[in-house]
Amino acid sequence: MGFKEGFLWGGSISAAQVEGGWNEGGKSPVLVDYATAGYAEKGRRHRFITYRNADGTNGEVPMLVTAEIPDGAEYVLRENVHYPNHDAADFYHRYKEDIALFAEMGFTTFNTSISWARVFPDGMEGGVNWEGVEFYRDVFQECRRYGMDPVITLYKYDEPLCLKKKYGGWINRAMIDEFVEFAWVCFTEYGDLVNKWMTFNEINIEIMIGSMSGEEEEMQRKFLAAHHQIVAAARAVKLAHSISSEQKVGCMIAGICTYPLTPDPEDILAAQKIFQKKFCYCADAMIRGKYPGFTNRIWKENNVFFDISEEDRNDMLEGVADFLGFSYYNSNCVTTHPQEGDTVEGNLIRGEKNPYLQESDWGWTIDAKGFKYFLHILNDRYQVPLFVAENGLGAYDRVEEDGSVHDPYRIEYLRDHISCMKEAVEEGVDLFGYTTWGPLDLVSASTGQMDKRYGFIYVDKNDIGEGDFCRIKKDSFYWYQKVIGSNGECLK
Ligand code: BG6
Repeated sequence: MGFKEGFLWGGSISAAQVEGGWNEGGKSPVLVDYATAGYAEKGRRHRFITYRNADGTNGEVPMLVTAEIPDGAEYVLRENVHYPNHDAADFYHRYKEDIALFAEMGFTTFNTSISWARVFPDGMEGGVNWEGVEFYRDVFQECRRYGMDPVITLYKYDEPLCLKKKYGGWINRAMIDEFVEFAWVCFTEYGDLVNKWMTFNEINIEIMIGSMSGEEEEMQRKFLAAHHQIVAAARAVKLAHSISSEQKVGCMIAGICTYPLTPDPEDILAAQKIFQKKFCYCADAMIRGKYPGFTNRIWKENNVFFDISEEDRNDMLEGVADFLGFSYYNSNCVTTHPQEGDTVEGNLIRGEKNPYLQESDWGWTIDAKGFKYFLHILNDRYQVPLFVAENGLGAYDRVEEDGSVHDPYRIEYLRDHISCMKEAVEEGVDLFGYTTWGPLDLVSASTGQMDKRYGFIYVDKNDIGEGDFCRIKKDSFYWYQKVIGSNGECLK
C-alpha cells in the first residue's frame, strides 16, 4: 500500500519565473521579459507586454494571448516600470544554494525548464550559445550530485523574442523546425544527466482561455498555434527515442476538473464538453497520436478550420508521449442556468462558485477530493503513467520578527492533496511522481507577483521589486522533508 519505492518527490519551477539574469550569459530576451507586474485584485488581464508604435507612442497588449502588436511597432522596456521576470528569484546566480536546499528537503526529482533563448539566442540561424548550454549542464549535474532524477521541460511560457519577430510566433509552422533543433541540442547535450522530459508546458492553455476579443480569427490562430506545438512535440518525442530508448518524453497539460453545478443533464453535458475541449483535445492528440472524434464539433463551435497533412498525422502517431504530465490546482463548476453572484477564477479559468468549497486569496477553489477524482479520470482514459507536474497553494506569507515564516495554510493544502493522491494510488492509479509548484517563491505567471507565494523557501523580494533575495526556510520546508523522508506516509 502507499507510494511505490522510488516514487519521485520534488518541486517544479520554470526558467522565466525563477532565473532572472534575463540578459546575462548570452541569453536574448523572451516575450515575458516585456511583461509588467500585475496585482491580485486585477489579475492576468492587467499584466501587459509593452511596445512602442512607429509614431513613438506607447502601447500594450495583454500577456499570454496570441495577440499581436501593431505593424511597425517594437517591443520596448519603459523607464520606471518594474519588469518582475528580469531578476525573478535570482536562481541564475543562486542555483547551487537552492538545489542544496531542495536536497535538504530530500527531493528525489526536480523539474525546471530550459530557456530556449539561452541556448539559441538568435534561433537556429545564430547557432548555439555554449554558455547557456553549460549553465543548464551545471544545474543538472548539481541535481544528480544529490541523487535527484530530474524531469525537464523544454518550453514553458518563454517564447524567444527573436523568433516572434522573425516568424510571428507559433502561428507559423517554421517554429516547428526551430523547436526540433533546440530539442536535439538538449537531448544530445544532457542525455547522460536527464532521461525524463516534457515538451510544452500546459500546451492547452491558450485554447482553454478562449478568445479574449471574442473574434473568430483569434480562435483559429490559437488552434493552429496549438497544432504546430503538438506536431513539434511529436517530432521531439521521435527524435529522443531515436537517440536512446532510455529517453522518456511526456506531454504536460493544464488540468482543471469541471463539475456540473446541478444534476440537470444539460449541465452534465456542458461539463463534459469543457473537459473534451480544454483537456482531451490536446491530451488525446499527444497520448493517442490523433485528435479525438469530437474534434469536428469543437472546430465548428469555435469557427476553426485548417488542413492536417499526412506528414503531420504520421508524426503525431509515431511520436506519442511516454507519460502524461499535468498540473492540478483547483476545480470549478459550470451550469447552463442563469446565475447570480460571483464567479470564481483559477488558473485562467472562470467558473461558477462551488458552495461546498473554499477559495484561496486569489479566488482559486481548493479541492483535494477533485484531485483524486481527476487522477482516476486520467488514469482510466489514457492508461499511461501519470506525473503530477504542478500542485500547490499561492498565498501571502509573513516574515515574523524572529525571521521565521509560519505557513499552516500551505501545509494543510498540500497534506489534503497528497492524502487524496495516496488514496488514488492505492486504488490503482499509475502515478510515478509528484512535484509541488514553486518550492522556491517565484514570479506568478498570471499576475506577475512575487507576493503570491507557493514556496517552502521564502525569497526576500516583493511585488515592487524590493528585497535582497535572501532565502528563509518556512515551516512547510520541514513538513515536506518529513513527507518525503517517509515516502508519503507521514503527513502530520
Ligand atoms: C501553472 C503554470 O498553470 O500555474 C505555472 O504552469 C504557474 O507557470 C502556476 O506559475 C501557478 O499560477 P500563478 O498564476 O499563480 O503563477
